[in-house]
Amino acid sequence: MQTSGSIFPFFLLAFILVSGASSAADKNIDFLECLTLQFQKSNSESDSIYTPQNASYSSVLQSSIRNLRPASNSPRRPFVIITPEHESQIQAAIYCSKKHGIQLKVRSGGHDYEGLSYISETPFVIVDMRNLRSISIDTEKNTAWIQTGATLGELYYTIAEKSKTLAFTAGVCPTVGVGGHFSGGGYGMMSRKHGIAADHIIDAKLIDANGQIRDRESMGEDLFWAIRGGGGTSFGIVVAFKVKLIVIPETVTVFNVTRTLEQNATQIVHRWQYVADKIDENLLLRLFLRSINSSNGKRTIGAFFTSLYLGRVDDLIPIMQEKFPELGLVKEDCTEMPWIESILFFAGFQGESQDILLNRTRDSIRYFKGKSDYVKQPIPESRLKNIWKFLNQEDVNRAELQFSPYGGRIDDFSESEIPFPHRSGNIFMIHYGVGWSQEENAKSQRHINWIRRLYSFMARYVSKSPRAAYFNYRDLDIGMNNIKGNTSYRQASVWGFKYFKNNFRRLVHIKNKVDPTNFFRNEQSVPPESLW
Ligand SMILES: Cc1cc2nc3c(=O)[nH]c(=O)nc-3n(C[C@H](O)[C@H](O)[C@H](O)COP(=O)(O)OP(=O)(O)OC[C@H]3O[C@@H](n4cnc5c(N)ncnc54)[C@H](O)[C@@H]3O)c2cc1C
Ligand SMILES: *[C@@H]1O[C@H](CO)[C@@H](O)[C@H](O)[C@H]1NC(C)=O
Ligand SMILES: *[C@@H]1O[C@H](CO)[C@@H](O)[C@H](O)[C@H]1NC(C)=O
Ligand SMILES: *[C@@H]1O[C@H](CO)[C@@H](O)[C@H](O)[C@H]1NC(C)=O
Ligand SMILES: *[C@@H]1O[C@H](CO)[C@@H](O)[C@H](O)[C@H]1NC(C)=O
Ligand SMILES: *[C@@H]1O[C@H](CO)[C@@H](O)[C@H](O)[C@H]1NC(C)=O
Ligand SMILES: *[C@@H]1O[C@H](CO)[C@@H](O)[C@H](O)[C@H]1NC(C)=O
Repeated sequence: MQTSGSIFPFFLLAFILVSGASSAADKNIDFLECLTLQFQKSNSESDSIYTPQNASYSSVLQSSIRNLRPASNSPRRPFVIITPEHESQIQAAIYCSKKHGIQLKVRSGGHDYEGLSYISETPFVIVDMRNLRSISIDTEKNTAWIQTGATLGELYYTIAEKSKTLAFTAGVCPTVGVGGHFSGGGYGMMSRKHGIAADHIIDAKLIDANGQIRDRESMGEDLFWAIRGGGGTSFGIVVAFKVKLIVIPETVTVFNVTRTLEQNATQIVHRWQYVADKIDENLLLRLFLRSINSSNGKRTIGAFFTSLYLGRVDDLIPIMQEKFPELGLVKEDCTEMPWIESILFFAGFQGESQDILLNRTRDSIRYFKGKSDYVKQPIPESRLKNIWKFLNQEDVNRAELQFSPYGGRIDDFSESEIPFPHRSGNIFMIHYGVGWSQEENAKSQRHINWIRRLYSFMARYVSKSPRAAYFNYRDLDIGMNNIKGNTSYRQASVWGFKYFKNNFRRLVHIKNKVDPTNFFRNEQSVPPESLW
């Protein structure tokens, strides 16, 4: 929720640009001088420094932005973007931003739902990890070192190049960055069988607030725990993660079947809630719900059962017949393929060349607002119909609910094993999303109000005390935020307990130890105890 404060920085910025003489502008110049000097000291080229005067500044800034909403509400742009190719350049950026009191933001894939990796209320610089994206795979030990500027698409492509039976469990969208995704959790189509990305991190390389490069051993188990789900931002800049890869069958099976209200979608979705978290963990039945035009032109609800089975179709059909006959899945609905092809399928790129996974700018750009919830008790059938009414209040295909099943391997970990706390007891996670185009942006508030109304309607059907939320689906609505980036306990404890449950206390404690001055911060970062 923005307060009137968001207007203030705009005038301030305009003032700085016009007068060129305020202390904030001087600070920027000092920072740049400091950075240039540090780069010279380490023999670094200045071609990884972009200021608004460089012709490619705008394209670099925009390259990984997928949600236009945050930046459109926040006119302030970074006055420097650094695209390091060496760790020494990150150390230089930390040193100079500390010295001159400039906020530093780090961006990997740029997919943050609220744009916190590239917007700020105070003058700031961005360290963009795009050039640090090497991936090295050890097919004997089944491990990989992955630099955080890599995308999920690059990771999946690189693994598949090396082996037909190795894979990794993480998100669906190929342009999501490893840096934000792994450090905040990482749910995907194999999570019921293999857990989330953060469950598989076995080492990391991080640069701390003192500019020290640390690995698991030298950072200690507390800090290593924090960056596996607690978000990277609060604790340092993660340069690379080492993960344990997973072993998969050479052939997997996918399907995506649609049921409309006329095809008993309500009953089937209701029934799904009793099956999705308990069925064979090789099977993940993800469910997408949208208001659509039916073939006769009438509004209806489309329920899309988008699923991955880690095995052959002949083994899948009997499981579905026994546990979920209501869906009426038949062999003809299913396609067998290698795992890497299933990545293309779920990303909507079926039939295209695998190289598309290396394209970091492929997916569409729009205005978007998202939210999340966890469901512990099935939602009654009659209440599902009220949700359909909400979906029908928006244009067809504009709003979407995703029901992502939990259970299986996710439940094998205790809530405090890593900061990601959403374990046993959750049937599924709801992702609420609404999107619109540039032309429709004048009506953005209408869509935002709609999703907030739906969210408050859903309160009675979802987890309580706290009403949990998924950190990677960042939502600034939960917990009022201090616009100066100074997160006080009262504000932070609202979202802190929702994202991390009781792990929030340990995160604050660790923050206090490793970054007591709150150097690494954003509008929703873990505050040190000194700010409680
Ligand atoms: C289209 C789309 C699809 C998605 N699909 C899924 C999905 O299937 N499953 C799922 O779990 N999530 C999904 N997400 C959510 C995604 O996991 C989060 O948005 C994630 O934080 C994105 O990471 P990023 O590096 O791309 O984002 P960024 O915007 O670069 O970073 C996100 C946050 O992490 C911080 N950060 C980034 N890199 C580093 C680093 N190297 N060190 C320290 N801090 C860092 C940033 O400062 C920022 O606060 C999706 C998001 C989008 C937009
Ligand atoms: C940006 O401009 C400065 C000053 O001309 C130059 O030194 C630097 O190399 C440029 N950066 C890039 C990425 O070209
Ligand atoms: C919907 O359910 C009813 C009652 O169970 C059944 O008779 C009908 O055949 C179903 N319709 C479809 C399209 O499956
Ligand atoms: C859905 O139907 C309405 C009314 O017939 C029409 O105006 C609209 O363009 C259709 N939308 C899509 C996406 O087909
Ligand atoms: C599943 O089908 C729906 C409806 O046709 C479509 O919108 C969606 O993109 C499909 N999903 C995948 C992963 O193919
Ligand atoms: C990536 O995809 C976009 C959009 O389709 C296209 O314009 C661009 O050329 C592609 N980039 C590469 C490197 O193939
Ligand atoms: C944050 O705000 C509190 C209370 O407003 C203030 O006492 C504290 O000094 C601030 N901290 C920082 C780091 O700005």
